[in-house]
Amino acid sequence: MTPGKEFTPYAPRPATLVRKVRLSDFVTLFEFEQDDGRPLAHKPGQFIQVSVYGVGEAPFSISSRPKAGTNSFEIAVRNIGTVTNALHDLAVGAKVGIRGPFGSCFPVQEFVGKDTLFVAGGLGYIPLRSLLRYQLRHREEFGRILLLIGTRSPSERIFVDEIEALSRRSDVEVMETVDCVGDACWEGNVGVITTLLPKVRLDVENTYVAMVGPPVMYRFVIGACVGDQCIPPDRIYVSLERKMKCGIGKCGHCQINGISACVSGPVFRYTDIEPLKEAL
Ligand SMILES: Cc1cc2nc3c(=O)[nH]c(=O)nc-3n(C[C@H](O)[C@H](O)[C@H](O)COP(=O)(O)OP(=O)(O)OC[C@H]3O[C@@H](n4cnc5c(N)ncnc54)[C@H](O)[C@@H]3O)c2cc1C
Ligand code: FES
Repeated sequence: MTPGKEFTPYAPRPATLVRKVRLSDFVTLFEFEQDDGRPLAHKPGQFIQVSVYGVGEAPFSISSRPKAGTNSFEIAVRNIGTVTNALHDLAVGAKVGIRGPFGSCFPVQEFVGKDTLFVAGGLGYIPLRSLLRYQLRHREEFGRILLLIGTRSPSERIFVDEIEALSRRSDVEVMETVDCVGDACWEGNVGVITTLLPKVRLDVENTYVAMVGPPVMYRFVIGACVGDQCIPPDRIYVSLERKMKCGIGKCGHCQINGISACVSGPVFRYTDIEPLKEAL
C-alpha cells in the first residue's frame, strides 16, 4: 500500500461478508472482516460508510462492541432502499468497501461506576448494542444496567434471542414493550416506550441515560427522564441520524443548525443540542 494511503478517510477499505443473520422480516445482521486484517478500532456509537460496489454507499452504526485483536465487526440493516437492498442481496464471501469509523461516541469512561439506563426505540437497539456489549464485557466496572426497548409490533422485534438471554441475567434489567400487538402472540407490555419509564426506580444522582430511537421518541422520553425521574439533563446522551454523504464534515448534507452531525455527532450530550432548533 502507498505510504499514507491507508489513512485517507475517502478511500474505502475492502472487507468481506462472513456472516448474515436474519433478525426480522426487514432487518439483517451482517458480520464483516476487514481484508487488511486490521481491527476497525471503533468506539460505541460511531458509524461507518459501507459501499456496495456498483450501487452506492450508506452510513450504518457499528453494532458490535470494540474488540482488540480482531478484524471483524457487525452492523444490522433495515432493507429500505437502493443500497440496503443490494446489501441484503449479498452472499457470504462478497466484498464491500468500508470507510470510517466516523463521528462521536458514547463517553464510556464517564459511565464507569455509574448506572446506565438504555432506551432503545425501534432500530435504536443497533447502535446501543455496541455500548451495552462493551459494558457487559467489563461488567464489574459499571453499576446497574437497565434496558428499555420499544418496538412497533412483535414481528418487528430484533435480536430477540439475545434480548431474551439478557433478560435471564441477574445483572441486567430488561423491560420491553410494543406499540400494538395486532394478531401476534404477545404477553408483554403494550404501549409506547414512555409507559415503561414510571415502572423503573432510578438512583438519579448515579444514572446516565443513553437513548436512540425515532425522532418522535426523544421529546417524550427526555421529558419523562428530566421531568418525572429528575435525571440531570447533562447525563442524557442521544444519537441523531441525518442524511450523510461524506461522513467527515465536508459536504454539508448532515447539518443541524450549522453543526455537522457526522463529526460532532451522531452521539450528542442532550444539553449540547437542546438549544438547536433543528436537532429534535
Ligand atoms: C449515523 C447513521 C447511522 C445509521 N445506522 C443505521 C443502522 O444501524 N441500521 C440501518 O438500517 N440504518 C441506519 N441508518 C440509516 C441508513 O443509512 C439508511 O437507511 C440508508 O442510507 C438507506 O439507504 P438506501 O440506499 O437503501 O435507501 P435510499 O434508496 O437512499 O432511500 C430509501 C428511502 O429511505 C429514506 N432514507 C434514506 N436515508 C435515510 C436516513 N438516513 N434517514 C431517514 N430516511 C432515510 C429515503 O428518503 C427514501 O425514502 C443510519 C444513518 C445514519 C446517518
Ligand atoms: S455527511 Fe458530509 S458533512 Fe456530514
